[in-house]
Amino acid sequence: MSKMESPTSHVKRVFILLLIIIIAGVIVRSMLIPESFGKYGHYRGNALQEEAAREVTFSEQEKCSSSECHEMNFLIKDKGKHKPVVCENCHGAFAFHPEEKRADPNKFTINRDRSLCLTCHRKEPARPKDFPMIVELEHYVEGGEKPPCISCHDPHSPSMG
Ligand code: HEC
Ligand code: HEC
Ligand code: HEC
Repeated sequence: MSKMESPTSHVKRVFILLLIIIIAGVIVRSMLIPESFGKYGHYRGNALQEEAAREVTFSEQEKCSSSECHEMNFLIKDKGKHKPVVCENCHGAFAFHPEEKRADPNKFTINRDRSLCLTCHRKEPARPKDFPMIVELEHYVEGGEKPPCISCHDPHSPSMG
Protein backbone atom coordinates (compact mmCIF):
# COMPACT_ATOMS: atom_id res chain seq x y z
CA MET A 1 0.00 0.00 0.00
CA SER A 2 1.44 3.29 -0.98
CA LYS A 3 2.05 5.81 1.71
CA MET A 4 -0.87 8.25 1.96
CA GLU A 5 -0.26 11.84 3.03
CA SER A 6 -2.35 12.96 5.95
CA PRO A 7 -5.25 15.13 4.79
CA THR A 8 -3.98 18.10 6.90
CA SER A 9 -0.33 18.06 5.81
CA HIS A 10 -0.72 20.89 3.28
CA VAL A 11 -2.08 23.11 6.07
CA LYS A 12 0.99 22.29 8.18
CA ARG A 13 3.24 23.21 5.32
CA VAL A 14 1.56 26.57 4.93
CA PHE A 15 1.96 27.22 8.66
CA ILE A 16 5.64 26.29 8.60
CA LEU A 17 6.18 28.59 5.64
CA LEU A 18 4.36 31.43 7.42
CA LEU A 19 6.42 30.86 10.56
CA ILE A 20 9.65 31.05 8.57
CA ILE A 21 8.51 34.29 6.91
CA ILE A 22 7.55 35.82 10.28
CA ILE A 23 10.83 34.84 11.95
CA ALA A 24 12.85 36.09 8.97
CA GLY A 25 10.81 39.33 9.06
CA VAL A 26 11.56 39.89 12.75
CA ILE A 27 15.27 39.27 12.25
CA VAL A 28 15.56 41.51 9.18
CA ARG A 29 13.52 44.22 10.92
CA SER A 30 15.80 44.23 13.96
CA MET A 31 18.80 44.54 11.63
CA LEU A 32 17.34 47.44 9.65
CA ILE A 33 16.00 49.62 12.47
CA PRO A 34 18.62 52.20 13.51
CA GLU A 35 19.94 51.88 17.05
CA SER A 36 18.44 55.07 18.43
CA PHE A 37 15.01 54.57 16.89
CA GLY A 38 12.21 55.05 19.39
CA LYS A 39 14.46 56.57 22.06
CA TYR A 40 12.21 59.65 22.29
CA GLY A 41 9.38 58.83 19.92
CA HIS A 42 8.61 57.28 16.58
CA TYR A 43 11.82 58.54 14.94
CA ARG A 44 15.59 58.10 15.06
CA GLY A 45 16.76 59.66 18.36
CA ASN A 46 20.23 60.52 17.04
CA ALA A 47 18.64 62.65 14.32
CA LEU A 48 18.14 65.38 16.94
CA GLN A 49 21.85 65.80 17.70
CA GLU A 50 22.76 65.40 14.03
CA GLU A 51 20.41 68.21 12.96
CA ALA A 52 21.47 70.45 15.86
CA ALA A 53 25.13 70.01 14.90
CA ARG A 54 24.62 71.38 11.40
CA GLU A 55 26.28 74.67 10.68
CA VAL A 56 23.97 77.68 10.87
CA THR A 57 23.60 79.32 7.45
CA PHE A 58 20.97 82.01 7.97
CA SER A 59 21.31 85.12 10.07
CA GLU A 60 18.56 87.29 11.53
CA GLN A 61 17.27 90.35 9.75
CA GLU A 62 17.70 92.37 12.97
CA LYS A 63 21.46 91.86 12.68
CA CYS A 64 21.60 93.23 9.13
CA SER A 65 19.50 96.20 10.09
CA SER A 66 21.28 97.49 13.18
CA SER A 67 22.28 101.14 13.12
CA GLU A 68 25.98 100.44 12.53
CA CYS A 69 25.23 98.27 9.49
CA HIS A 70 22.51 98.60 6.85
CA GLU A 71 19.84 100.46 8.77
CA MET A 72 18.96 102.66 5.78
CA ASN A 73 18.27 99.69 3.52
CA PHE A 74 16.09 98.24 6.22
CA LEU A 75 14.13 101.43 6.84
CA ILE A 76 13.45 101.84 3.12
CA LYS A 77 12.38 98.24 2.78
CA ASP A 78 10.24 98.36 5.91
CA LYS A 79 8.04 101.09 4.44
CA GLY A 80 7.59 99.45 1.05
CA LYS A 81 5.98 96.41 -0.48
CA HIS A 82 9.08 94.28 0.13
CA LYS A 83 8.60 94.51 3.88
CA PRO A 84 7.81 90.76 4.12
CA VAL A 85 10.85 89.80 2.03
CA VAL A 86 13.88 89.36 4.28
CA CYS A 87 17.36 90.51 3.26
CA GLU A 88 18.70 87.01 2.79
CA ASN A 89 16.03 86.11 0.25
CA CYS A 90 17.94 88.34 -2.13
CA HIS A 91 21.41 88.65 -0.66
CA GLY A 92 22.07 85.00 0.11
CA ALA A 93 22.56 83.20 3.39
CA PHE A 94 25.24 84.95 5.41
CA ALA A 95 25.07 83.76 8.99
CA PHE A 96 28.61 84.92 9.65
CA HIS A 97 28.61 88.10 7.64
CA PRO A 98 27.64 90.45 10.50
CA GLU A 99 30.45 89.19 12.72
CA GLU A 100 33.01 89.27 9.94
CA LYS A 101 31.83 92.64 8.68
CA ARG A 102 33.27 93.09 5.20
CA ALA A 103 36.26 90.81 5.68
CA ASP A 104 34.68 88.23 3.41
CA PRO A 105 32.56 90.00 0.81
CA ASN A 106 31.54 86.69 -0.71
CA LYS A 107 29.23 86.11 2.20
CA PHE A 108 27.01 88.99 1.04
CA THR A 109 25.94 88.67 -2.57
CA ILE A 110 24.29 91.35 -4.65
CA ASN A 111 22.36 89.84 -7.52
CA ARG A 112 21.32 92.56 -10.00
CA ASP A 113 20.00 90.09 -12.53
CA ARG A 114 16.40 89.91 -13.72
CA SER A 115 16.33 86.27 -12.68
CA LEU A 116 16.32 87.22 -8.99
CA CYS A 117 13.05 89.13 -9.31
CA LEU A 118 11.51 86.68 -11.75
CA THR A 119 11.96 83.85 -9.27
CA CYS A 120 9.14 85.37 -7.27
CA HIS A 121 7.27 87.54 -9.80
CA ARG A 122 7.12 85.48 -12.99
CA LYS A 123 3.49 84.78 -13.80
CA GLU A 124 2.65 81.26 -12.68
CA PRO A 125 -0.88 79.84 -12.57
CA ALA A 126 -0.16 78.22 -9.20
CA ARG A 127 0.53 81.55 -7.45
CA PRO A 128 -2.20 83.42 -5.56
CA LYS A 129 -4.11 85.60 -8.04
CA ASP A 130 -3.60 88.78 -6.03
CA PHE A 131 0.18 88.37 -5.89
CA PRO A 132 1.89 90.93 -8.14
CA MET A 133 3.11 89.01 -11.18
CA ILE A 134 4.35 89.88 -14.64
CA VAL A 135 4.58 88.09 -17.95
CA GLU A 136 8.27 88.55 -18.53
CA LEU A 137 8.28 89.36 -22.23
CA GLU A 138 5.24 91.67 -22.00
CA HIS A 139 6.64 93.82 -19.21
CA TYR A 140 8.68 96.73 -20.61
CA VAL A 141 10.62 94.53 -22.98
CA GLU A 142 11.04 96.23 -26.33
CA GLY A 143 12.82 94.95 -29.40
CA GLY A 144 14.11 91.94 -27.52
CA GLU A 145 16.01 94.15 -25.10
CA LYS A 146 15.54 93.13 -21.51
CA PRO A 147 16.42 95.98 -19.15
CA PRO A 148 17.41 95.11 -15.59
CA CYS A 149 14.35 95.26 -13.30
CA ILE A 150 16.27 97.54 -10.98
CA SER A 151 16.70 100.15 -13.70
CA CYS A 152 13.08 101.06 -12.88
CA HIS A 153 12.33 99.41 -9.52
CA ASP A 154 14.17 100.10 -6.29
CA PRO A 155 14.72 96.54 -5.05
CA HIS A 156 14.22 97.63 -1.45
CA SER A 157 10.99 99.48 -2.19
CA PRO A 158 9.78 98.33 -5.60
CA SER A 159 6.37 99.98 -6.08
CA MET A 160 6.11 102.46 -8.95
CA GLY A 161 4.47 105.69 -7.82
C1 HEC B 1 14.00 91.92 -3.21
C2 HEC B 1 15.41 91.72 -3.10
C3 HEC B 1 16.17 92.44 -2.02
C4 HEC B 1 15.91 92.48 -0.68
C5 HEC B 1 14.75 91.83 0.07
C6 HEC B 1 16.97 93.23 -0.07
N1 HEC B 1 17.85 93.65 -1.02
FE1 HEC B 1 19.50 94.78 -0.74
N2 HEC B 1 19.80 94.89 -2.77
C7 HEC B 1 19.07 94.22 -3.71
C8 HEC B 1 19.58 94.53 -5.04
C9 HEC B 1 19.06 93.98 -6.35
C10 HEC B 1 20.65 95.46 -4.84
C11 HEC B 1 21.50 96.13 -5.92
C12 HEC B 1 20.93 97.54 -6.13
C13 HEC B 1 21.63 98.34 -7.19
O1 HEC B 1 22.73 98.00 -7.59
O2 HEC B 1 21.03 99.35 -7.62
C14 HEC B 1 20.78 95.62 -3.38
C15 HEC B 1 21.74 96.42 -2.77
C16 HEC B 1 21.99 96.40 -1.42
C17 HEC B 1 23.14 97.03 -0.78
C18 HEC B 1 24.30 97.74 -1.48
C19 HEC B 1 24.03 99.07 -2.11
C20 HEC B 1 22.91 99.86 -1.50
O3 HEC B 1 21.89 100.04 -2.17
O4 HEC B 1 23.05 100.31 -0.34
C21 HEC B 1 23.03 96.82 0.56
C22 HEC B 1 23.98 97.25 1.64
C23 HEC B 1 21.79 96.06 0.78
N3 HEC B 1 21.19 95.85 -0.44
C24 HEC B 1 21.32 95.66 2.01
C25 HEC B 1 20.09 95.06 2.23
C26 HEC B 1 19.53 94.78 3.54
C27 HEC B 1 20.19 95.09 4.86
C28 HEC B 1 18.34 94.18 3.34
C29 HEC B 1 17.32 93.76 4.40
C30 HEC B 1 16.91 94.78 5.34
C31 HEC B 1 18.15 94.07 1.90
N4 HEC B 1 19.24 94.63 1.26
C32 HEC B 1 17.07 93.48 1.29
C33 HEC B 1 18.01 93.35 -3.46
C34 HEC B 1 17.40 93.18 -2.24
C1 HEC C 1 11.62 86.15 -2.35
C2 HEC C 1 10.58 86.66 -3.21
C3 HEC C 1 10.74 88.01 -3.86
C4 HEC C 1 11.80 88.47 -4.61
C5 HEC C 1 13.11 87.77 -4.89
C6 HEC C 1 11.39 89.74 -5.12
N1 HEC C 1 10.13 90.05 -4.68
FE1 HEC C 1 9.03 91.66 -5.21
N2 HEC C 1 7.60 91.15 -3.88
C7 HEC C 1 7.61 90.01 -3.10
C8 HEC C 1 6.50 90.07 -2.15
C9 HEC C 1 6.17 89.02 -1.11
C10 HEC C 1 5.83 91.29 -2.41
C11 HEC C 1 4.59 91.81 -1.69
C12 HEC C 1 3.39 91.24 -2.36
C13 HEC C 1 2.12 91.75 -1.80
O1 HEC C 1 2.09 92.85 -1.25
O2 HEC C 1 1.13 91.02 -1.96
C14 HEC C 1 6.53 91.93 -3.52
C15 HEC C 1 6.15 93.12 -4.10
C16 HEC C 1 6.75 93.65 -5.24
C17 HEC C 1 6.24 94.77 -6.01
C18 HEC C 1 5.06 95.62 -5.61
C19 HEC C 1 3.88 95.48 -6.48
C20 HEC C 1 2.82 96.43 -5.99
O3 HEC C 1 1.76 95.91 -5.63
O4 HEC C 1 3.07 97.62 -5.92
C21 HEC C 1 7.10 94.99 -7.05
C22 HEC C 1 6.99 96.04 -8.13
C23 HEC C 1 8.15 94.02 -6.92
N3 HEC C 1 7.91 93.22 -5.82
C24 HEC C 1 9.26 93.96 -7.75
C25 HEC C 1 10.39 93.19 -7.49
C26 HEC C 1 11.67 93.34 -8.14
C27 HEC C 1 11.98 94.38 -9.17
C28 HEC C 1 12.49 92.39 -7.61
C29 HEC C 1 13.96 92.13 -7.91
C30 HEC C 1 14.87 93.21 -7.53
C31 HEC C 1 11.72 91.62 -6.65
N4 HEC C 1 10.45 92.15 -6.59
C32 HEC C 1 12.18 90.51 -5.96
C33 HEC C 1 8.51 88.97 -3.19
C34 HEC C 1 9.71 89.02 -3.88
C1 HEC D 1 11.19 100.24 -17.91
C2 HEC D 1 10.85 100.18 -16.52
C3 HEC D 1 10.54 98.85 -15.91
C4 HEC D 1 11.29 97.69 -15.95
C5 HEC D 1 12.61 97.44 -16.66
C6 HEC D 1 10.60 96.72 -15.13
N1 HEC D 1 9.45 97.26 -14.63
FE1 HEC D 1 8.13 96.36 -13.39
N2 HEC D 1 6.90 97.97 -13.47
C7 HEC D 1 7.21 99.17 -14.08
C8 HEC D 1 6.08 100.09 -13.92
C9 HEC D 1 6.01 101.52 -14.45
C10 HEC D 1 5.10 99.39 -13.16
C11 HEC D 1 3.72 99.90 -12.70
C12 HEC D 1 2.76 99.95 -13.83
C13 HEC D 1 2.53 98.60 -14.43
O1 HEC D 1 2.05 97.69 -13.71
O2 HEC D 1 2.85 98.44 -15.62
C14 HEC D 1 5.65 98.07 -12.91
C15 HEC D 1 4.98 97.08 -12.20
C16 HEC D 1 5.58 95.89 -11.78
C17 HEC D 1 4.96 94.91 -10.91
C18 HEC D 1 3.59 95.01 -10.30
C19 HEC D 1 2.59 94.35 -11.20
C20 HEC D 1 1.22 94.32 -10.56
O3 HEC D 1 0.38 93.60 -11.12
O4 HEC D 1 0.99 94.98 -9.55
C21 HEC D 1 5.85 93.91 -10.73
C22 HEC D 1 5.66 92.65 -9.90
C23 HEC D 1 7.02 94.22 -11.52
N3 HEC D 1 6.81 95.43 -12.14
C24 HEC D 1 8.14 93.42 -11.59
C25 HEC D 1 9.17 93.66 -12.50
C26 HEC D 1 10.24 92.70 -12.74
C27 HEC D 1 10.37 91.35 -12.04
C28 HEC D 1 11.05 93.23 -13.68
C29 HEC D 1 12.26 92.61 -14.34
C30 HEC D 1 12.05 91.29 -14.92
C31 HEC D 1 10.50 94.55 -14.01
N4 HEC D 1 9.37 94.74 -13.28
C32 HEC D 1 11.05 95.43 -14.93
C33 HEC D 1 8.37 99.45 -14.75
C34 HEC D 1 9.38 98.56 -15.06
